[in-house]
Amino acid sequence: SRRSGQQTGRYSLVVVSNRLPVDFEVGPDGAESWTTSPGGLVTALEPLMRASDGAWVGWPGVADRSFEPFENDGISIVPVRLSKQDIERYYEGFSNDTLWPLYHDVISPPSYHREWWDSYVAVNRRFAQAAADVAATGATVWVQDYQLQLVPRMLREARPDLVIGFFNHIPFPPYGIYSQLPWRKQIIDGLLGADLIGFQRSADASNFSSAVRRLFGFTTRGMAIDVPDGDLGRTRRVIAKPFPISIDAASFEELARRPEIQARAKQIREDLGNPKKIMLGVDRLDYTKGIGHRIKAYGELLRDGRLAVDDVVLVQVASPSRERVGAYMALRDEIELMVGRLNGDYSTISHAAISYHHHGYPREEMVALYLASDIMLVTALRDGMNLVAKEYVAVRFDNDGVLVLSEFAGAADELRKAVRINPHDIDGVKDAIIDAVEMPPRERSKRMRALRRKVFDNDVAAWSASFLETLTGGAAVQPGVPEN
Ligand code: F6P
Repeated sequence: SRRSGQQTGRYSLVVVSNRLPVDFEVGPDGAESWTTSPGGLVTALEPLMRASDGAWVGWPGVADRSFEPFENDGISIVPVRLSKQDIERYYEGFSNDTLWPLYHDVISPPSYHREWWDSYVAVNRRFAQAAADVAATGATVWVQDYQLQLVPRMLREARPDLVIGFFNHIPFPPYGIYSQLPWRKQIIDGLLGADLIGFQRSADASNFSSAVRRLFGFTTRGMAIDVPDGDLGRTRRVIAKPFPISIDAASFEELARRPEIQARAKQIREDLGNPKKIMLGVDRLDYTKGIGHRIKAYGELLRDGRLAVDDVVLVQVASPSRERVGAYMALRDEIELMVGRLNGDYSTISHAAISYHHHGYPREEMVALYLASDIMLVTALRDGMNLVAKEYVAVRFDNDGVLVLSEFAGAADELRKAVRINPHDIDGVKDAIIDAVEMPPRERSKRMRALRRKVFDNDVAAWSASFLETLTGGAAVQPGVPEN
């Protein structure tokens, strides 16, 4: 740690996230490369970082490798080293087998292990130190997501001169669930080191404020939390507020308008045998996404004869994710068994019922797939936002296509004109799919226009600007005031 105010770095904006926008990969032939990393967080923050002279502190996705800071595609990258054991305990363990299932409504049971917690603390300290090293005096540091919830407090202690924001990309659970966490007070204390804590939905922000009241008894007024600061009865004001995240909608539309991508979309339809309706699911292979519920509903529609395999296909892209965590291995087996059974039961020589792909694809290919698909199925059981839903809408400049959207995705708060579903209600999902299949063109166009207005009016530039303005505009940063 260092004395306050000491200038140490040159960056006036620092983003800190577990994963960098690029992952280091070594191929089977030993060839080394940097590839785009998975997930919505990276999609959302890349445009901001390209447009600003900031630094991005994070992990390059590989164990036990040190890299000097470097420049990638206009972004200054500051890699943080994680050992094999850090990855097992901090990343696969505490982040993705404790916090992830806990924050997603305990869809899968969270595991609580004290050595995972110890590793989480140690690795958070390393990220905080790396950010403190590159941040200029008075810089703004924006910490991202559940893997780094202790960083705001650690940073404040090391560098009281900094303006510190935090954004939680995933849900924040109701207190009845959150309170299971053996380290529930430490996590909240870590977050309260920030000046501004952003959430996806207002429900997440109020769940957080209520946990603060229940665990610490601090006064909360609307979005403001008065946090005791020092021994003199002073308080520091922290704001907890929703900032629904988005995408760079214009850049997705720009891709969609390219002739080669349109040609690729046509080709995809042809390769699939020009069925009447193409349905699409795009997810990280994660138990929060409701992929099994979707396949079950689709299979029953084929079984009941409400859909015919000659007329429809479900294209499911399931990108590999967290493959060494037990719950993800079990999920892969479960989903691939379902896909195999369904194709065995219903596919013909010329038509597959499900076209399943356990890969990530480049953005261009995803845009072509969105364009080729008549119906997009987002059936998440719980999801912070779900940017795939917004991407589908952004590319549909033809005002066609139907979005079927789970009420349990954050995106449902804004995208009210989607066909809304409760993914647990399989009969309801089946009826929604049939409604989407049968929806007349005028109705499709009316809904898609409304959805596109939402996505284009609140794009990712508006999201980051409003977060950073709230953070630095004075609203969140207030001198301590004596408590009465
Ligand atoms: O958006 C949620 C999130 O967990 C990000 O924090 C993360 O980078 C992304 O999904 C992908 O997950 P992972 O980094 O574990 O592969």
